[in-house]
Amino acid sequence: MDIDKIREDFPMLRGLKMQGKPLIYFDNAATSLKPKKVLDAIYDYYASYCANSHRGDYDIAHRVDVEFEETRKVVANFINAKSENEIVFTSNTSMGLNMIAYGLMKELHEGDEILLSEAEHASNVLPWFHVAQEKNVSIKYIPLDSKGRLTLANLKKSLNEHTKIVALAHVSNVLGYILDASSFAKEIHKYGAYFVLDGAQSVPHMKVDVKEIDCDFLCFSGHKMLAPTGIGVLYGKYELLEKMDPLLSGGGMNTRFDMCGNVSLQVPPLKFEAGTPNIEGVIGLKAAIEYLNEIGMENIDKRERELKKYAIEGLKKLDNVILYNEDSESGIITFNIKDVFSQDAGSYFNAKGICVRTGLHCAKILTDFLNTDGTVRASLAFYNTKEEIDTFIETCRNGGNFLDAFFADE
Ligand SMILES: Cc1ncc(COP(=O)(O)O)c(C=O)c1O
Repeated sequence: MDIDKIREDFPMLRGLKMQGKPLIYFDNAATSLKPKKVLDAIYDYYASYCANSHRGDYDIAHRVDVEFEETRKVVANFINAKSENEIVFTSNTSMGLNMIAYGLMKELHEGDEILLSEAEHASNVLPWFHVAQEKNVSIKYIPLDSKGRLTLANLKKSLNEHTKIVALAHVSNVLGYILDASSFAKEIHKYGAYFVLDGAQSVPHMKVDVKEIDCDFLCFSGHKMLAPTGIGVLYGKYELLEKMDPLLSGGGMNTRFDMCGNVSLQVPPLKFEAGTPNIEGVIGLKAAIEYLNEIGMENIDKRERELKKYAIEGLKKLDNVILYNEDSESGIITFNIKDVFSQDAGSYFNAKGICVRTGLHCAKILTDFLNTDGTVRASLAFYNTKEEIDTFIETCRNGGNFLDAFFADE
């Protein structure tokens, strides 16, 4: 991987400064930076063929339709779906998960159970709370092991004949552990339950193959994988998408309706895409996936693991850093500087030009498990470097005296 060339592709990595210091972007789990290829594709759409999709009979509208439907194929290939008709464009992971929760509601009955974990992001908890209240079903949590991992043994103990849906993050956005999703799918399907996979933190960083995993649904967000904000994907097995009710109604998702309220719906995926979609997002997503494919997801995965290992080795030598997930596989490092409130640490990192995330990271149930008011999360991407990690470690070294360090620089 030619890292200098890759960094040239990202305008924000070409010498940008923050607080007068070279920008170090370690908040990739929140959103990724965007390469020029993606920005150009969006500009090109607005500058040379801006039209609505699935509605016009003229040349530039046709070009939009071609790009739009091409993207569906590119996404289907990227996650190895059986067909592009299993790919629904959404606005983000949260929207996809809400659409599934709403769409499956009619299949739930009193006494049924939905299984989650304590490590889930709000977007994979709150839609299920809503469904549980509406349908009088219970939410249960698969216990985490002492490190915060989800194990097959604990899944087996939690499954029973009442389990109807199991919804889990493929990679936790706080602890960064990777779920053994295909083994989980096998167990879950023994009970006839649906397996919903939240891929917000996996799809951008590793090869995800829905056929191999055999999940029933997978949701992810474009903005975490080099594409613009406001575009996401809901993958569902076609026969399940056919059964599901659409959350949104409007133009584009019906074939006809009459004055008496009779409505015929489109078949999936269009059934779920009411209203003018995020066309620039779809076009940007295609460019993003092409860019990721050029580098190769295996190479991305390998590089991020190497960077993480390098960072952990450095951080472990410091006696003022508490690490919460040193052995997790992905590029997410969650820690605290001893005796420093996480948001104060965040301000200190900002003063040094380093972007990290602080607080509860939308996984509010996990806070009790970690027994902390909040943590600092540094999340790496393939375009980060060991030199940036060195600066980050040096910054952590002085983090205990963060106020002194802050003023010493003034
Ligand atoms: C594991 C996980 N699930 C869901 C989401 C929600 O993603 P979005 O805000 O793009 O809908 C996030 C965002 O950080 C996440 O990390």
